[in-house]
Amino acid sequence: MLAVGPLRRARELGVLEVSLHQLRDYATNRHLQVDDVPYGGGQGMVMKPDPLVAAIEHVAAAGRPRRILLAARGNRFDQHRAEALARESSLLLVCGRYEGVDERVAAYVDEELSIGDFVLSGGELAAAVVLDAIVRHLPGVLGNTASAPDDSFATGLLEHPQYTRPWAFRGVEVPEILGSGDHDAIRRWRRQEALRTTLARRPDLLRGAPLDEADRAFLRSLGWHEDDG
Ligand SMILES: C[S@@+](CC[C@H](N)C(=O)[O-])C[C@H]1O[C@@H](n2cnc3c(N)ncnc32)[C@H](O)[C@@H]1O
Repeated sequence: MLAVGPLRRARELGVLEVSLHQLRDYATNRHLQVDDVPYGGGQGMVMKPDPLVAAIEHVAAAGRPRRILLAARGNRFDQHRAEALARESSLLLVCGRYEGVDERVAAYVDEELSIGDFVLSGGELAAAVVLDAIVRHLPGVLGNTASAPDDSFATGLLEHPQYTRPWAFRGVEVPEILGSGDHDAIRRWRRQEALRTTLARRPDLLRGAPLDEADRAFLRSLGWHEDDG
């Protein structure tokens, strides 16, 4: 995953450096054990605090990273958080496994982040998701200086529909306006389609989206009531 797409580009540009750390390197017992049974009984194993905190402190000593523990109970990761984290000079992403980590580890991180209301088997995929979303906001990674300005959520709305060649696919043509060359009309159409998509799929987003009077009028024409969302 680090070797393809925007992550690869970010590394080639020198705006991203990733290093992976093996937790067992910080285990001090004979079997390099990093998990143990839960106090109080119960299913599964819990990650021990001593190797994990030793790893966090060792890695953090090389810089002053923002320390993030991936956890299902954490604050929900979203586009705004991705943008904000992209401004940090260094991040330390701590991945749990098994039944999770000893509660005392929480005192050694700055925040806990969740990528959604579901449980993964480990924090690695969550860390990869967080990393991928952040990298899109680093300068130059998407091939221009602005970072993904039209992406869903960047404008507070879902993105407008996208089309590419062929013009006609199994009898369905691309909306006429996109072939018109009229850039103002295309910008207006895209804005309205973003509003239409957001109203249909995520009306809750409209509550926080910056809308002007033309947006509101268009939404009202689709049956939206300001109080709905
Ligand atoms: C099997 S899960 C532990 C689940 C834990 N028993 C609970 O109910 O919250 C193992 C690890 O996966 C990661 N993980 C699971 N779900 C996640 C989510 N939604 N977001 C971020 N990390 C998650 C965390 O690092 C967690 O420590």
